[in-house]
Amino acid sequence: MFKNKKTDSLNERPGLVVINKPTSIVSEQFRTVRTNIQFSMVDEKLQSLVVTSAGPSSGKSTVSANLAVTFASEENRVLLVDADLRKPTVHKTFNIKNNEGLTKVLTDKLTNIDEVIYRSSIEGLFLMTSGAIPPNPAELLSSKRMNTIIEEMKEEFDMIIFDMPPVLAVTDAQVMASKVDGLLFVIPKGEVSKEQVLKSKELLENVQANILGAILNKVEKSEKNYYYYGD
Ligand SMILES: Nc1ncnc2c1ncn2[C@@H]1O[C@H](COP(=O)(O)OP(=O)(O)O)[C@@H](O)[C@H]1O
Ligand SMILES: [Mg+2]
Repeated sequence: MFKNKKTDSLNERPGLVVINKPTSIVSEQFRTVRTNIQFSMVDEKLQSLVVTSAGPSSGKSTVSANLAVTFASEENRVLLVDADLRKPTVHKTFNIKNNEGLTKVLTDKLTNIDEVIYRSSIEGLFLMTSGAIPPNPAELLSSKRMNTIIEEMKEEFDMIIFDMPPVLAVTDAQVMASKVDGLLFVIPKGEVSKEQVLKSKELLENVQANILGAILNKVEKSEKNYYYYGD
């Protein structure tokens, strides 16, 4: 069913702390985030979420990838989608090719999502890379075709995580936030101003984003709450 591509063993992939150090505080914090998301799912179905932040290099891709691994299991099929069509990194994190991906299914109606999905060596974890970088990412993401693709993903996966560009730079994350069930906002400690966070929140609320919470990233180890999740 899926493209006959499997990822290498993912041991020792830099950035995938939940694989490399499953007993570390950070891995534990990812499990806490997972639990909190699961709790927030009690009343409403939460099957798709976007991960974004105010600016670049905040840890969006790191958080998306580690969360995807944390959610994946034999019973829980998870699809990590590289929807950062400006600076895609999922293929680098998982050491896979990025010839075809999301932009291929977006621009070619005859391509089925299964044709561009990788089955990873982690039970329940599937990956869709960005594909070729298009000149018009926001336009592609806001298309009806994208809605159809999300519906198809929902038929096959229990959880779909979209790794996005930052909110303040481009509209892509806003566009996608209005299409998915929930949003996680990454805040790199000390690297972003309160005004930038508030502006991002305003932009996301303008599109009725369901903001589930924020993850404080890049916190010093000594500060204990390495990753924090809450309102
Ligand atoms: N908690 C962290 N501690 C140390 N380095 C981090 C942390 N989170 C992210 N990084 C590093 O910061 C850089 C940017 O992270 P990335 O997840 O690619 O950000 P974004 O997707 O927001 O641009 C990467 O080199 C990543 O390895
Ligand atoms: Mg990124």
